[in-house]
Amino acid sequence: MAATLLAGCENVAVEPNAAGPASATRGRLAAERLGCGACHVIPGLWPRGTSGPSLAGFAERGLIAGTLPNRPDALAAFLFNPPATVPGTGMPRVPMTRAQAADIAAFLHQPDAR
Ligand code: HEC
Repeated sequence: MAATLLAGCENVAVEPNAAGPASATRGRLAAERLGCGACHVIPGLWPRGTSGPSLAGFAERGLIAGTLPNRPDALAAFLFNPPATVPGTGMPRVPMTRAQAADIAAFLHQPDAR
C-alpha cells in the first residue's frame, strides 16, 4: 500500500512533506489563528491579504522568499523566524512555536485542493 502511494508521487516538483495529514490540518488552523491571511492569499483561508505574495501553489515553488530551498525543514525555520533565515526579508516574525511552524510548513506543502 505504502509503495503504491509513494509511486504516485514521482512527479512532485518539491520533496514531499513527510509530516502527514494531521500536521497539515493543525497547520491550517494555526495559520488561520495567527492571521497569515492578513497579508497573504492562501487557498481555503480568509482573509486574503495582498501586502505579501500569494501562497497559492506554494508546494510547487522551488524557493522560499527567492532564497531558501523550499524544503519542509527550511520552510519551518523561515516561518519560525524569517529575518534570521532570510536577512532583509519583508516577512515579519509572527510569534509561534517550532511545532506550529512545522505544522504550517506541512499545510503549505499540501497541494492546493484544500
Ligand atoms: C504583515 C504582513 C505579513 C504577515 C502577517 C505574514 N506575512 Fe508572510 N510574507 C510577508 C511578506 C511581505 C513576504 C515577502 C518576503 C520576501 O519575499 O522577502 C512574506 C513571505 C512569506 C513566505 C515566502 C513566500 C515566497 O513567495 O517565497 C511565506 C511562505 C510566508 N510569508 C508565510 C506566512 C505565514 C505562514 C504567515 C502566518 C504565520 C505569514 N506569512 C504572515 C508578509 C506577511
